[in-house]
Amino acid sequence: MDRIQIRGGAKLNGTIQISGAKNAALPLMIASLLTEQTLTLENLPRLADVNQLVRILGNHGVDYSIDGKRRAEEANAGQTAHLTARSIVDTTAPYELVSKMRASFWVIAPLLARMGEARVSLPGGCAIGTRPVDLLLMVLERLGAKVTIDAGYVVATTPNGFIGAEVEFPKVTVGGTHTALMAAATAHGTSVIRNAAREPEVKDLADCLNKMGARIHGAGTSTIEVTGVARLNGARHSVLPDRIEAGTYATAVAMTGGDVLLEGVRPDLLQEALDALTAAGATITSDNSGVRVRRNGAGISAVDVATAPFPGFATDLQAQFMALMTRAKGVSRIKETIFENRFMHVQELARLGAHIKLEGDTAIVEGVKELRGAPVMATDLRASVSLVIAALAAEGETTVNRVYHLDRGFENLEQKLGACGADITRISG
Ligand code: UD1
Repeated sequence: MDRIQIRGGAKLNGTIQISGAKNAALPLMIASLLTEQTLTLENLPRLADVNQLVRILGNHGVDYSIDGKRRAEEANAGQTAHLTARSIVDTTAPYELVSKMRASFWVIAPLLARMGEARVSLPGGCAIGTRPVDLLLMVLERLGAKVTIDAGYVVATTPNGFIGAEVEFPKVTVGGTHTALMAAATAHGTSVIRNAAREPEVKDLADCLNKMGARIHGAGTSTIEVTGVARLNGARHSVLPDRIEAGTYATAVAMTGGDVLLEGVRPDLLQEALDALTAAGATITSDNSGVRVRRNGAGISAVDVATAPFPGFATDLQAQFMALMTRAKGVSRIKETIFENRFMHVQELARLGAHIKLEGDTAIVEGVKELRGAPVMATDLRASVSLVIAALAAEGETTVNRVYHLDRGFENLEQKLGACGADITRISG
């Protein structure tokens, strides 16, 4: 298993090209199941989760091909992929595949829309909590699906197709909103989705579905109206830039000091996080090329944050921000309101010398003058990158084990940080 070794202390200076968003790429790829024509996705990131989803979609009959890199194209330029679900050969998504990546559960709505039946394994628990799918099933039922659970599988049918309906989510859910969009796109009649997730990735999926011929209005707000159409076509769509990757590197620069341009990202995708970093002492500016993050001289100030659905502070940046706060002057309170158990990084940060106390859904972080390198273990995707951020500012050497978590969601992490001056190497095997 690969490890990453980091010798802390270097400032970050340079330019980082932000990749296409993992959390946009996955539902977009799944949307290819909705049409027999080809969906072409540009700016697709090279990630383990994308590869895993290719296997899952392949099992349902999706043909996948990827354009070769053009001459003089940069290493970090996103890939262009073509996905064609000419016919669906299997409506079962087995446990062995779904358990490896929760988002693959989202194939259920397009399988039902296309084939009238689906048998999809329940995803099971994961490191950040129980993560139920009850709201996804609620949407499917509201839109006319018959749903039963049998031996760990959700077995569903739509004998008369999906029927448009009003759905109000009791809680904001990204996956639930994706599911509602994909079910409603080809339903008979009109659907209204209330308390919809406003995340940019939801808007990106809706934009792509509209290019495929769907009639979706209001994505990006909390009420979305979908007028069902008879069929969807192929389309070409470019994956949104990854706001979590951008926020991660912005936090890393705030931690080490330096001056980095995050190319290709829009500040409106992560304003709340940029505001928190500004309050912590970073200087942030933006122009057409991206967002520039600087911190020179002054120390890091303690800032309280609470995670919330978009446009609030993203839960996927909570661990990274906590890493930054371990070196702040004073005490900060970090409240996690989205997931019940998203604090596994606390114990690992403590191994580097951080002082963090947990009180229910809040971590109380008392900044320390110095972190010290140590072997640590990555426990999930975002938690593991928080260890990288801490290690970049720690005295001496840190080894981050179980790097496969990082590879799920960060394209060329060590190359991107290394090019900005970080002392970071991957040790294979
Ligand atoms: C997506 C993101 C993940 C991010 C999360 C919240 C992808 C691939 N993953 O996950 O990175 O951290 O949004 O921004 O895009 N819930 C229920 N019942 C359900 C569904 C969700 O109770 O049926 C709860 C969850 O347990 C959680 C909250 O709703 O407490 C939000 O979860 P949700 O937005 O659905 O997260 P995902 O779509 O799984």
